[in-house]
Amino acid sequence: MDIMVVGGGGREHAVIKALKKSDKVGRIYALPGNGGIARDAECFPVKATDMEGVLRFAKEHKPDFAVVTPDDPLVMGMVDALEEMWIPCFGPTANAAVIEGSKVFGKKLMEKYGIPTAKGKSFSDFEEAKKFAASIAYPAVIKADGLALGKGALIVNSFEEAEDALKSMMIDRIFGASGDMVLIEEFLRGPEVSVLTFTDGKTVVPMVSSMDHKRAHDNDEGLNTGGMGTIAPNPYYTPAIAERCMREIFLPTIDAMNSEGRTFKGCLYFGLMLTEDGPKVIEYNCRFGDPETQVVLPLLESDLLEVMLATHDGRLCDLDVRFSADSACCVVLASEGYPLKYKSGFEISLPKTQEGEEIYIAGAKLEGDKLVTSGGRVLGAVARGETLEQAIDRAYALANKIHFENAYKRNDIGARALAARGNV
Ligand code: AMP
Ligand code: GLY
Repeated sequence: MDIMVVGGGGREHAVIKALKKSDKVGRIYALPGNGGIARDAECFPVKATDMEGVLRFAKEHKPDFAVVTPDDPLVMGMVDALEEMWIPCFGPTANAAVIEGSKVFGKKLMEKYGIPTAKGKSFSDFEEAKKFAASIAYPAVIKADGLALGKGALIVNSFEEAEDALKSMMIDRIFGASGDMVLIEEFLRGPEVSVLTFTDGKTVVPMVSSMDHKRAHDNDEGLNTGGMGTIAPNPYYTPAIAERCMREIFLPTIDAMNSEGRTFKGCLYFGLMLTEDGPKVIEYNCRFGDPETQVVLPLLESDLLEVMLATHDGRLCDLDVRFSADSACCVVLASEGYPLKYKSGFEISLPKTQEGEEIYIAGAKLEGDKLVTSGGRVLGAVARGETLEQAIDRAYALANKIHFENAYKRNDIGARALAARGNV
């Protein structure tokens, strides 16, 4: 089967490398892909958000199956449009992708169906939001309703900070229309866990749990980024907690979406906080997480295409989706300065990878046959190991063999998970 993958980051590289292991996969078209993906798939310069361009490409090349991974095209309805052309897809339709596209929708869904989450209140009027902000305890969290490149959640420590955040979102519109509505949310404490699941709207198959490292610098300091590294599985996510999440969160969410006439098919991502009162949802994503995917898919032992086809066809209950008992670690190499200003255009030298190692390229392009940096997060150095220590050591050993001029990485990916293990 010929597969079209829409997107061009590290997550898409991981998806494409996993798909390539399937005997059933023929050609893989990546739109737009990137300089690293070009070694594993045929890349075409069509942006993931260029709906017309993607549809035109699909009409010409007639892929047998499409995988749409980034949030914007899903929320825009790319799956709906492709399926109208009779191209089966992995990914939710727009009316289900709203679970990520509108944080206010997600919050109301959880409140209506009794799914544990932080208390929250939504506002479309600045003065009303401000009045409410004057009445609450701090810290609190202020979130733009719509998509904001993962930067739409601000933790505020005082009314003054809350007022500034509300003003920048609602009046200065730093996130455009995404901030016309905001959510003011109670601040939750506890370890965070990411759980990606496959779901066909009936069955939920959780993948191995993972832990993201969102801050730019060691010890979780510095600005929030798209993610500086991940480990899997997450030691905080014990079998007892997994069972509770399935019962109190995953299945109720699938049922709730069905009840709303918004059946979700694809990868539903649960961002969870394990609080003293039990696990609570802090965010839903309608897609694979990035860089969570870079540690989760290398542990998948089943054929990813089979799983995706079963998700589309509603046959997940017949499938035994298997994951390795190993651990994995992804260390992101970014351009120094990210997530603010950074320079790019530097040549990347890559070592040969061994069994159990992967280098997923996120922000790099080809210049002739040279791979040069072109983004903030440049790549993920990923390794598996029988234990988490081994996976972390191998991922860092691999990362240390990769060179480009202004490479920056955190040095403590996985450290918190290792320290936590004895105490969970
Ligand atoms: P989001 O954009 O919703 O993924 O949020 C980004 C990050 O903000 C999360 O990964 C959490 O670390 C933090 N966060 C979001 N919501 C809350 C909350 N209610 N309480 C504490 N931290 C939160
Ligand atoms: N790593 C978090 C996300 O993909 O949204």
